[in-house]
Amino acid sequence: MMHPAMAPIRIAIAGIGNCASALLQGLVYYAKLEAGNGHLTGLLHPRIGSYAPSDIKLVAAFDIDTRKVGQPLETAVVADPNCTTQFLKRFPRYGVNVQMGPILDGVAPHMHRYPASQTFLVAKHKPANVVRVLKRSGAEILLSYLPVGSQRATEAYAEACLEAGVSLINCIPVFIASNERWAARFTKRGIPLIGDDVKGQVGATILHRTLAKLFIERGAVIDRTYQLNVGGNTDFLNMLNQKRLKMKKISKTEAVQSVLHKRLTTTDIHIGPSDYVPWQHDRKVCFLRIEGRGFGNCPIELEARLSVEDSPNSAGMTIDAIRCLRLARDRGLSGPLTAISAWTMKHPPKPMPDDAARELVKAFIRGTKT
Ligand SMILES: NC(=O)c1ccc[n+]([C@@H]2O[C@H](COP(=O)([O-])OP(=O)(O)OC[C@H]3O[C@@H](n4cnc5c(N)ncnc54)[C@H](O)[C@@H]3O)[C@@H](O)[C@H]2O)c1
Repeated sequence: MMHPAMAPIRIAIAGIGNCASALLQGLVYYAKLEAGNGHLTGLLHPRIGSYAPSDIKLVAAFDIDTRKVGQPLETAVVADPNCTTQFLKRFPRYGVNVQMGPILDGVAPHMHRYPASQTFLVAKHKPANVVRVLKRSGAEILLSYLPVGSQRATEAYAEACLEAGVSLINCIPVFIASNERWAARFTKRGIPLIGDDVKGQVGATILHRTLAKLFIERGAVIDRTYQLNVGGNTDFLNMLNQKRLKMKKISKTEAVQSVLHKRLTTTDIHIGPSDYVPWQHDRKVCFLRIEGRGFGNCPIELEARLSVEDSPNSAGMTIDAIRCLRLARDRGLSGPLTAISAWTMKHPPKPMPDDAARELVKAFIRGTKT
């Protein structure tokens, strides 16, 4: 029998959009580099415990788009409206067909007003039994990459995880790991989880947190700040609907407020997705401004512009979250993993400075901290 720590990490994904595409590409890309002893540029941890990216195996997938449901995963992942860059020439054959998920509130009404190439087209299939698919596939971790605002759909997948004994990595701003009631249910069931709302590897949140911390550590005060983000993928199209943005705004704003000594009033901090520009595709541009005062109360103004391919930026974090979660399962841990969540997520159960989270993650990997 294979030692449990040698067995592949069997993952399922809900939402085969751009983030799923980037992650799946990364798994093959880094496996090739590993084999050739090449530079693992962009990969923070070549190994976590004994686990390399090549130990992660996709065993089940859910979506609701007619161009993806029923299709082999390697076809679905390149179907419209996915538009992220392809840094991998060809996807492998996974032997996995995409299953119809429960739609619930996954698709916002305004999405129907856009051309097919830019938006979701809902399939008419009957939803699969998520618990049964998870159990039959032997999945041990489910990643949620649903659209922002999918409260009920996220809860449905979280319920399925609880029933199937599967861990959740909740990459979206619906609060599960950071919600006491949900966290307690996972703890009671003996299942570890990570959440909520994945941070980009070098993204707007970490940049904003780092610059805010710089002001504070150098004795300056911050009076007001904004972070405006524009992009042209379905994530940005979906986020045109202000009603779906409540949790995203809380998640992104708290990520910055939590590093400040004194919280800014709501009028002095403005952070969020700001517009949809279709021709930008998966390229996200962040405009950031901080106004403050330094020595002698003299003004300091800082402006930054960050341009990134949005989805690979998130995959850089999830590829580590998956392997840390497997370590937690190997060690019999349960409930929210606080340090990994603080390091990889914008709205963790226990916010902490990034350097503190990083040290705790290193200790967790070494096995000296939970
Ligand atoms: N890119 C990043 O850096 C980043 C950072 C933080 C959070 N996120 C979040 O991750 C999520 C995924 O982002 P993305 O760019 O891949 O989005 P996307 O729009 O490309 O993909 C979403 C996918 O979910 C599918 N879907 C909709 N409802 C569903 C349901 N009920 N069940 C199963 N599938 C469903 C859609 O058909 C689509 O394929 C978004 O919520 C986004 O805000 C991304």
